[in-house]
Amino acid sequence: MTHTELSTQSHVPRPWYENAVFYQILVGVFNDTAGEGIGTLKGVEEKLDYLQWLGIDCLWLSPFYASPLRDDGYDISDYLTVHPEYGTMEDFEDLIAAVHARGMKLITDLALNHTSMDHYWFQESRKNPEGPYGDYYVWGDDPDRYPDIRIIFTDVESSNWSFDEVRGQYYFHRFYKEQPDLNYDNPAVHEEVLSLVDFWMGKGLDGFRLDAIPYLYERDDTGGESIPETIEFIEKLRVYMDEHYPDAFMVAEANQPPAETREYFGDGNRMHMVFNFPLMPRLYQAIATSQASPIEEIMPELLHLPPGTQWGNFLRNHDELTLEMVSEFERDLLYSAFLPHDSMRAHLGIARRLAPLMDNDRAKIELMFALMFGLPGAPFVYYGEEIGMQDDPSLQDRDAVRTPMQWEPGPGAGFTTSETPKRPIVGGFGLSVAEQRHDPDSLLRFVRSLIAARKAHPEIGIGNYESIAVTEPSLLAILRTLKEEDRVIASDPLGSAPLVCLYNFAPYPIDIPKQALTPLGGVGHVEIGSEHGVSEVRAGDAIPAFGYLWLSALYSA
Ligand code: GLC
Repeated sequence: MTHTELSTQSHVPRPWYENAVFYQILVGVFNDTAGEGIGTLKGVEEKLDYLQWLGIDCLWLSPFYASPLRDDGYDISDYLTVHPEYGTMEDFEDLIAAVHARGMKLITDLALNHTSMDHYWFQESRKNPEGPYGDYYVWGDDPDRYPDIRIIFTDVESSNWSFDEVRGQYYFHRFYKEQPDLNYDNPAVHEEVLSLVDFWMGKGLDGFRLDAIPYLYERDDTGGESIPETIEFIEKLRVYMDEHYPDAFMVAEANQPPAETREYFGDGNRMHMVFNFPLMPRLYQAIATSQASPIEEIMPELLHLPPGTQWGNFLRNHDELTLEMVSEFERDLLYSAFLPHDSMRAHLGIARRLAPLMDNDRAKIELMFALMFGLPGAPFVYYGEEIGMQDDPSLQDRDAVRTPMQWEPGPGAGFTTSETPKRPIVGGFGLSVAEQRHDPDSLLRFVRSLIAARKAHPEIGIGNYESIAVTEPSLLAILRTLKEEDRVIASDPLGSAPLVCLYNFAPYPIDIPKQALTPLGGVGHVEIGSEHGVSEVRAGDAIPAFGYLWLSALYSA
């Protein structure tokens, strides 16, 4: 598929990623085919049937490269090698071929800001300052330099500098001390990056997630985030990608304040996609306060993106529910709603999965999914969230949300035959894929039908967004229509059907106000949830507590 085709069935000439549904996998905890208690690349391949059945278009593999796993693989010790516990390069090649054979896509994670200290470059750099790798990292004699650069893992590290006995100098690191930052002032580092991009793109990848991308450069008297030198490097990388791999795309992890986050799109010449860090905490805030305003207030800042770019929407990922960029007031509010116990804290955020965050309340979980799938952007499902997986707060750091996928009931959860899985399996009756797959009322089946409904409405991902004014503060009412330029096939009934999305954040039912249905001509038809016996909706009908409705006028008489 090329950039001019969509991954949905519509005929809209849009880049494939703009409306794709993504699924994040941590290879080591997904599916073990070796019986060692550790997931493998072969294990991912074995589950492609499932992912396709669910409606996933593109897989994102978190790092599976050689690594001492101090930071679960985000500390890479060799970019060009598969971690032996996960399999071989041949397994990776088989996986990508199998993904493509199904018309699906695959992206991988690139952590370019830093390496593991076990990386050969760092080992050489510390031993031989005058050698070819001497200048690959950020060395210095003054551990007080860059005082304005924040420490990200504040609860573990007290400085961004650590002393290296071998070299007799300090090295700079934004994350754990085992993850020294690469020196982007050295052109040789740029060459290394481009060559590893070539290596992986040569395997047929469809793109990359760029980890921790705001932090590449350091400069005195700056906070060292999103500074012009870093943006310039991103533009250089984009030019390189466009020239050599025009169908590939890059999604940025840029956890920055909203206006700064948008900088990563440039005018369409930087990242194709940026994770929607500005929106994510607002979804939780809306649930916590029963108010639609946290979402309504941020939306205007998120619209009107440059052509060819898109938000990557997410509810959870492998990290803590990050609260770095919210105000102190909002952080306290979210702590009091979602952090009942300090053992669940990781860094500044909360290491819990979606279902437990929602008190396992099915309505709230569905509401959150409906928001992620219904707001403008491309949705990213974190493995296990589609079955309401639980977490294990007794595990260190963010491992609480990185436990093995539950495929079947019983010991090993269908994840492994080993009695000693790498991480404990979190129990839970009825939580496995096998139990939910054939139960039409399961969360899994719900998520699957939501994905299908979304795919039937390309205006959700790429259409116009208009807020419908309603008086009830707990109700979010939105009108979605396809943009004029996207209505290429006039005979396509979906091309012109407006969609009204209503979300109720109140813990009680709300009557649908008349003005919410005006764009539909007064009567709405339920797009999803019709298995509950509702098909036609009129003003005055109730939306249940924490309920939502996607309504169209498609079949109105
Ligand atoms: C990103 C990753 C996180 C990792 C950090 C350092 O934020 O998502 O898991 O710890 O970068 O690589």
